[in-house]
Amino acid sequence: MQRLKIQYLLKEDVSALIGTTICVKGWVRTKRGNKNVAFIALNDGSIIHNIQIVADPAKFEEELKHITTGACIGVEGKLVESQGSGQAVEIQAENIVIYGEADPNTYPLQKKGHSMEFLREIGHLRPRTNTFGAVMRMRHEMAYAIHTFFHNKGFYYFHTPLITASDCEGAGEMFQVTTMDLNNIPKKEDGSVDYEQDFFGKQTALTVSGQLEGELGATALGAIYTFGPTFRAENSNTPRHLAEFWMVEPEMAFYDLDDLTALEEEFIKFLVKWALDNCKEDLEFLNNMIDKGLIERLKSVINTDFVRLPYTEGIKILEEAVAKGHKFEFPVSWGVDLASEHERFLVEEHFKKPVIMIDYPKEIKAFYMKQNDDGKTVQGTDVLFPQIGEIIGGSVREESYDKLMTRITELNIPMKDMWWYLDTRRYGSCPHAGFGLGFERLMLFVTGMANIRDVIPFPRTPKTAEF
Ligand code: 4AD
Ligand code: MG
Repeated sequence: MQRLKIQYLLKEDVSALIGTTICVKGWVRTKRGNKNVAFIALNDGSIIHNIQIVADPAKFEEELKHITTGACIGVEGKLVESQGSGQAVEIQAENIVIYGEADPNTYPLQKKGHSMEFLREIGHLRPRTNTFGAVMRMRHEMAYAIHTFFHNKGFYYFHTPLITASDCEGAGEMFQVTTMDLNNIPKKEDGSVDYEQDFFGKQTALTVSGQLEGELGATALGAIYTFGPTFRAENSNTPRHLAEFWMVEPEMAFYDLDDLTALEEEFIKFLVKWALDNCKEDLEFLNNMIDKGLIERLKSVINTDFVRLPYTEGIKILEEAVAKGHKFEFPVSWGVDLASEHERFLVEEHFKKPVIMIDYPKEIKAFYMKQNDDGKTVQGTDVLFPQIGEIIGGSVREESYDKLMTRITELNIPMKDMWWYLDTRRYGSCPHAGFGLGFERLMLFVTGMANIRDVIPFPRTPKTAEF
């Protein structure tokens, strides 16, 4: 018999099926009852809610012994209107198949309310919990929304390489990729490593960003976006950093700073609205169980104008706050890279809404950002969000070959691997801009989860690469 998804039975109008025999399959969440009747709550991952199976203990005596939390079963039975509250329909079991038992003495997901830390230790099973089911379904929805947004705007999905020889952000936080025998590394006469003998014939690493190649796409196709994994070997053990995370990087020819910040704002609002419109059950669950202010916060973001704040003005606001007695752990003055406490002050206390900070000192930003005429600042943008801090980093790109070369030389960036990037400025150079949205930072915002390790199925962080 054809299996029906529980989402279909609980969300669609199934009145025509009432009284007929149907089939569902899934994992047992709970079993309760007495000697006259047994109730099984069954979940198949298609929706946060369970369907209730009603079984006669006399008829299913043997099966019920093996039906414990976590077991996988298939049920054929009559769909009826539910007597109890909380669900519209339930199933009166006529036939039960047990696919896989789950020994109650060892199955770790017994009681409700495990800590997030414990669930990370059983990352292979945590997708079966309500919370992680909700987060993973929303992750899918957000990925789909991202493709929808750009497709509707005529952007092309452009696949940039994961293995690369260039360090886009220039921070030296790359994971090396090699097939060399680490116990017997080929050396040149001067004692340095002979990368010519390595797989690619040069030193390579996992990419920190697809931007540089994305610029090649944008200066040919007009507007592109990437959406893929990126890797950073930064040793930051924070609730907002992963060593492997997903980034969305649109890159647009002929965009200036205003076009760029407008797209950043429109994009995030589209995604948040998509979550509100398409993830209702999961959001209600997360709002109840994880973060009571979640849905309100999402609604407020789509109904508010994001602030455009030049870095220099932001510093003034922070300095005034310090003068009035506000205590920050890290000092503030023009030129510093803002710490998350500073960003949060601006967003959560001063403006009380998302802030797009622009025109940063060139010293604290990457080499490719467009230089302003003041000689001090560049057209970089960071979108700062309540509770998350930086959710997007982007910029207008320096299109002048000479200015870009000067910056590359000042920063001692190795030229030999960048010739192809410089060619975009040599041949048909055009004004262009782009940004990178950290997908997991977005997921933190739309789910209300507190730790970035809990919005990706299998987090990679310093000293953890389990599963
Ligand atoms: O600000 P970042 O480093 O910018 C770039 O990589 C640019 N090349 C993007 C571009 O202009 N195309 O990173 C972009 C975003 C950040 O704003 C943040 O949301 C996220 O990526 N991010 C991280 N997310 C999780 N873990 C980390 N370690 C992250 N580092 C950056
Ligand atoms: Mg950044």
